[in-house]
Amino acid sequence: MKHSLMSDNISKGDLNVLVDFLSQDPQPILTNNKKVRQFEEEWGSWLGMPNNLMVNSGSSANQITFLALRQMLPEGAEVIVPPITWVSDISAVLQNGFTPVFCDINPKTLAIDEDDLLDKITRKTKVVFLTHVLGYNGLTDKILKLCEDNDLILVEDVCESHGATFKGQKVGTFGEISNFSYYYAHHMTSIEGGMVSTTDPEIYQLCRMFRSHGMLREATDDAIKQEYINEYPDLNSDFIFTEAAYNFRSTEINAVLAHNQLKRLDGNNKRRNENHYTFINNLNSERFRTDLNHEGNSNYAFTPILNEPDFALRDKTEERLNKYGIEFRRGLSGGGSQIRQPYIEKYIKNFNIKINGIYRAPNPLDYPKADHCHHFGWYIGNYPDLEESKIKHITEILNED
Ligand SMILES: Cc1ncc(COP(=O)(O)O)c(C=O)c1O
Repeated sequence: MKHSLMSDNISKGDLNVLVDFLSQDPQPILTNNKKVRQFEEEWGSWLGMPNNLMVNSGSSANQITFLALRQMLPEGAEVIVPPITWVSDISAVLQNGFTPVFCDINPKTLAIDEDDLLDKITRKTKVVFLTHVLGYNGLTDKILKLCEDNDLILVEDVCESHGATFKGQKVGTFGEISNFSYYYAHHMTSIEGGMVSTTDPEIYQLCRMFRSHGMLREATDDAIKQEYINEYPDLNSDFIFTEAAYNFRSTEINAVLAHNQLKRLDGNNKRRNENHYTFINNLNSERFRTDLNHEGNSNYAFTPILNEPDFALRDKTEERLNKYGIEFRRGLSGGGSQIRQPYIEKYIKNFNIKINGIYRAPNPLDYPKADHCHHFGWYIGNYPDLEESKIKHITEILNED
């Protein structure tokens, strides 16, 4: 039996819509244009966020978010991040002059742990950047209250959790900003693509400019434009660069695909959810964690995690998965603990942070719950058309003695 990490999420119907779009006469504009705007509106209605900006990847959504926050927060401000996340979450923080402060995870949600979060908040903390890992809702009432009480901006990374909910409300609508990815393996795809969704009109205006090289003309707020034009009367108003930014734009092709994929998203999520419960209900709970918080989840991956740290069992499990052709990734999202990655060492001297009351560089062993997932957790593909018998077969292989 072969079971790959991803199945082709792009249907014949998607391709036909794309061909129809490209065959139009006159030929359509292919760079960021009407189709991108249309999809931004559709996404806003689906998610329930007022300001939505399509970009060319989830990493770009991360980067543009922190470029915008850089305009309003002091340099070196602390951003609380989990070790279990994607590299671009940490690079967006680092590359925009902020200090990432790692916070261990809650083994039930796989996201930031609320008690550790309380310990990590200092006078310098300005942002909590929470990742909803592989479809699990990562929010709790206490996290939301800590953000509110300490005046912290909540940024949600929802790249892996489209459609997950907390208390019935979609995640990605609780924070001031949320980031999404439409990468091929995710819940829905635009080949490559991403979205920044925000409640804050000022952040939206900044992101509009920063998506296109920092160009003022991309802002839709006349007051912002006039301010710069008055301050720089010698510049051509078509070419005022308000920030040393980049090109993060999507193409129309990605938006056409995303539009068609969005129609299937809720249905696909429902089927993936049913698969998830079949998986959990058949997994041996004496060996694997089956007690995660499943409420409101929207997984595109199965997440077997060993109960106990056991390297011999880990290696045996991987041998078996390989033998049966079941593709997997160790470490859950992003290859496990980011603190163990070589790039962190390069920056470590710049971010000595408060750990148990003492300022020092992060060490993966100070984050034992994340480190456990790094060594003893996996991700295996869960796609909408997976048959029940195949899911049971995967659990049999995992449960085997
Ligand atoms: C949690 C998380 N954030 C950000 C990203 C980056 O998204 P992209 O691959 O679209 O750049 C990913 C990537 O898969 C991710 O898993």
